[in-house]
Amino acid sequence: MSHILVTGGAGFIGANFVLDWLREDGADAVVNVDKLTYAGNLESLASLKCSNRHIFSQTDICDRAALDRLFAEYRPRAVVHFAAESHVDRSIEGPGGFIQTNVVGTFTLLEAARAYWSGLHGSERDVFRFLHVSTDEVFGSLQPSDPAFTETTAFAPNSPYSASKAAADHLVRAYYHTYGLPVLTTNCSNNYGPYHFPEKLIPLVLMKALAGEPLPVYGDGLNVRDWLYVGDHCAAVRAVLAKGRVGETYNVGGNNTKTNLDVVHTLCGLLDELRPKVTGSYRQQITFVADRPGHDRRYAVDSRKLQVELGWTCKETFETGLRKTVQWHLENQSWVSNVMSGLYRKGRDECHAG
Ligand code: NAD
Ligand code: TYD
Repeated sequence: MSHILVTGGAGFIGANFVLDWLREDGADAVVNVDKLTYAGNLESLASLKCSNRHIFSQTDICDRAALDRLFAEYRPRAVVHFAAESHVDRSIEGPGGFIQTNVVGTFTLLEAARAYWSGLHGSERDVFRFLHVSTDEVFGSLQPSDPAFTETTAFAPNSPYSASKAAADHLVRAYYHTYGLPVLTTNCSNNYGPYHFPEKLIPLVLMKALAGEPLPVYGDGLNVRDWLYVGDHCAAVRAVLAKGRVGETYNVGGNNTKTNLDVVHTLCGLLDELRPKVTGSYRQQITFVADRPGHDRRYAVDSRKLQVELGWTCKETFETGLRKTVQWHLENQSWVSNVMSGLYRKGRDECHAG
């Protein structure tokens, strides 16, 4: 059986990627390498319990010896690297963990991949790919009339999170130019969808709305993000892995920019329809709170390269994707409440122990 090695596959996007990947008949088995930080949740992968095509290893990507053992044992044909500290607000509170995982961890993984790839021959060496999953936040903040980020926009990260991701992107690039490691990089906009940790805007608002709590909107709520349904991001990663040109970066976006206030109003409208309150609207819970320090004003992503070169397009509109997400949230309250109570950290099943 052939394998791919996925890092961070118990997190939000990684879990969606692993679930989507293994839904395809005949897809390679997945070696899922995840440290299980607060953001890692094996309950998201419950449907794969005891699957012989999903091998879970609780491993830190900073642990070179453990990575070497996994490469030697499973001989993956590709690495898909999602593992990261990913929340901007946490990076402001404590940047150290972001440097450790996003920079040192990516470096360690690159070194392990390079050592493994250097020992490959023939077609095994030719097909090997290292796909690094990154963010549009490396490009910094746009003025209202600036064009959207393209692959050639200069990096200008403004938070410790985006700076650590930018550093990782640079390392990945350097491993291609210096050592010839066959790398690919994707820079994606804000994702939303199932299994999203409720500290990020969309799942946080859903959770707080249903709990009758204030819905915190930072600053004036007019910061703009481009939103993409997570399944569309996973499809983009699969397309880049299959057909992307080695050494290239690909922007991934939903062509769907909204102010935060618009997003929160749309969520409240969907909840008013799908889970109406006894009286009034969820909108009455919206509360403006102090702004995030260094808060980027506007992101917008030009993903024409991915569309033209690789034929990728979004399947979900913001309306269909957000409706699906709200429905998922309403139908999976136990996933959300186990995160909030901390129970999800106890739910590590023996079938997943690596
Ligand atoms: P997440 O925080 O939900 O999940 C991260 C996962 O990585 C968790 O399972 C965690 O346990 C694991 N992890 C953290 N440190 C680790 C370490 N040292 N070793 C091994 N595993 C570790 O993040 P996400 O939202 O799923 O994002 C995944 C990737 O996509 C990240 O690289 C992020 O920068 C990128 N990205 C995210 C978004 C978004 O909107 N969420 C958008 C663009 C790009
Ligand atoms: P977030 O989901 O943290 O993603 P990112 O910072 O990576 O874009 O935040 C999305 C936007 O929502 C961002 O502009 C900050 C804002 N925001 C709020 O207004 N209130 C909140 O409680 C959170 C978590 C975010």
